[in-house]
Amino acid sequence: MDKITSDEDATSDSSTDDGSPTVDTREFAGHPPQSIADVRETYREQAAMIDRMSWLNRLLTGRYRQRLFGAASGRVLDVACGVGTNARYLPAGSEYVGIDISTEMLAKAEQRLEDHPRETRFYEMDAQDMKFPNDSFETVISSLSTCTFPDPAEALSEMGRVCTPDGQILLLEHGRSSVDPIARFQDWRADAHFEKHSCRWNQNPLKTVSQSPLTIVESSTALLGSVTAIKARPE
Ligand SMILES: C[S@@+](CC[C@H](N)C(=O)[O-])C[C@H]1O[C@@H](n2cnc3c(N)ncnc32)[C@H](O)[C@@H]1O
Repeated sequence: MDKITSDEDATSDSSTDDGSPTVDTREFAGHPPQSIADVRETYREQAAMIDRMSWLNRLLTGRYRQRLFGAASGRVLDVACGVGTNARYLPAGSEYVGIDISTEMLAKAEQRLEDHPRETRFYEMDAQDMKFPNDSFETVISSLSTCTFPDPAEALSEMGRVCTPDGQILLLEHGRSSVDPIARFQDWRADAHFEKHSCRWNQNPLKTVSQSPLTIVESSTALLGSVTAIKARPE
């Protein structure tokens, strides 16, 4: 695994021209901004558990990953790849590159895919500040990630930048259910869930993507409206 991290680790820390700190007043699904360091710490603590529970993740979302990411082609970048779950759903012949901010999640991904027939490369890198040149990948994929990025619009904008102009961006995201009692439960537990998992689980993925430079081409929802598959193009 190659380690390529941002010089500026805490995205919510910024300053004005005269050096005085500014307050980031943006709100994400009602939650305060968090830093890259916060997210990294969450996944440092949770990598082993997430790795153990990945069978459940695949059981719940595997068929949607298969359907969406089966359309990938060429050089494929998986942004916030976690333990590398998506690699198995790509068509044969596509090249897989995964990035994540968490050393621990990437270590699990490398272990898992050690004997996989597909060639895989992993980089420790911030999705909001990728080190790849423009137009590096024909397909950019990402799953269950916009709920966690400290600045989702920035990460989505970066996905557009590194994708070829005629390439595709495929996102499988989770958010607020369309079933009222479930949605209300999510709202009720939203703060506690965010605190523990750095995850805005009652976000609206379509709204999140529409606030970025990407253009949504197609979308569909499943699992009681809690999972959204999005096909987008860079701009
Ligand atoms: C819920 S996990 C999803 C992992 C995987 N994509 C999946 O579908 O199972 C969210 C992942 O996003 C990563 N992440 C969050 N913010 C990131 C950032 N700014 N840059 C890179 N990875 C990030 C976390 O480290 C974590 O591995």
